Amino acid sequence: MVMQSNQSMSISLTSNEFLEDPYPFYDRMRSVHPVYQVKSFKYPGWYVTGYEEAKEILLDTRFQNRIPLPFATKKYGHLKDIQNNMLLFKNQVDHRRIRGIVGKAFTPKKMEEYRPFIVETVNDLILQAEAKREMDIVSDFAFPLTSLIIAKILGVPAAERYQFREWSAGLLQTIDFTRTRRVLESGNEWTVKLLAYFKRLIKERKSLPQNDLISLLIKEEQQGDKLTEEELLATCILLVIAGHETTVNLISNAILALENHPEQFIMLKENPELIETAVEEFLRYESPTQMTARIASEDLQINGATIKKGEHVYIFLGAANRDPSRFDRAHVLDVTRNPNPHLSFGYGVHFCLGASLARIEAQMAISVLIQRIPDFKIALDELQWRKLVGFRSLKKLPIIF
Ligand code: HEM
Repeated sequence: MVMQSNQSMSISLTSNEFLEDPYPFYDRMRSVHPVYQVKSFKYPGWYVTGYEEAKEILLDTRFQNRIPLPFATKKYGHLKDIQNNMLLFKNQVDHRRIRGIVGKAFTPKKMEEYRPFIVETVNDLILQAEAKREMDIVSDFAFPLTSLIIAKILGVPAAERYQFREWSAGLLQTIDFTRTRRVLESGNEWTVKLLAYFKRLIKERKSLPQNDLISLLIKEEQQGDKLTEEELLATCILLVIAGHETTVNLISNAILALENHPEQFIMLKENPELIETAVEEFLRYESPTQMTARIASEDLQINGATIKKGEHVYIFLGAANRDPSRFDRAHVLDVTRNPNPHLSFGYGVHFCLGASLARIEAQMAISVLIQRIPDFKIALDELQWRKLVGFRSLKKLPIIF
């Protein structure tokens, strides 16, 4: 997928150069036009790198969320059906209906109730690492933390949660530019496994309800036309993926950013009350979700560009967050930055449902880690980013102390 329209921007979105540092590419594209039409890519459409343009598109529901699979999907039937029923890919009336139901379980107040459990889990994980004096931030810290929490909220027994890592990583790739036919086929297989798992769990909860999200959603499903069984299953799967993937990246990208900015690291250690603005800045600086997409439901104008009905729009949140026309010193990490209106959780009706939870998890994980292990060092010669365009995700981040 090489961009040739303008020689100075010739780059492959899946090259190591782009994966290591996409920001120079975003800057070059934005300087040509913040809404830039590319016909030569594997995914032709409008590439949006400007902040105001990204916000305007996310706010305008005539730009609809769409099922991200290719049209010929016979081989990926289960994957397609499940995505079709996910809140994230619903529009208008159906979106409002499902969001109204699931949103009740994700209010900031409800999420605050998990703060003590999150702190306890963070402390337990650090205790386990202290004996070894090393840990991988991705696999030994961020992943177990986020996975335990989402499992607890949903009502997945703790002992059964390990299998979800592979399943959710496999499904994430099915919505990324880098996917291949093989990825889609295995995504379909993971979907079959997830469906079987949740069908069994839902059956159990139907006969013996618990104080968890699955039991709450079942109640809605049983009240007639509120939530179909397919939507209930799709919601469980969406929450498992969303709860696992992005927050892990927020925490590990934040630790990397601190290690690369020693003066910011010292400032945060000496002023722990800065953790809230610091987490917002980590979100802005290295957005865990780099890109989301829409399709125009009619001809629409954005900053002089005419986007025709049916055309795709790729909104680079990571680029909008570094737009110098919106952020002073856009490429500088500043843990005191305030206000910080980044778009890392999206904007408008699809604004991330898990934002409060992700914020609490990251605030607690990072602040407790740097209090208890103030002098860690990253033990890696070369960073390895997962081969994804839409997500900024490290394969591992080992630290020693
Ligand atoms: C740092 C962590 C996270 C980031 C950066 C993030 C990012 C996003 C973004 C950008 C969107 C909007 C996508 C779009 O408009 O196309 C979104 C939607 C969503 N997120 Fe998150 N997310 C995070 C954590 C979570 C967590 C922990 C959960 C749940 C437990 C979650 C659940 C959802 C759901 C259900 C939606 C769909 C909302 C809708 O369509 O109405 N997210 N997220």
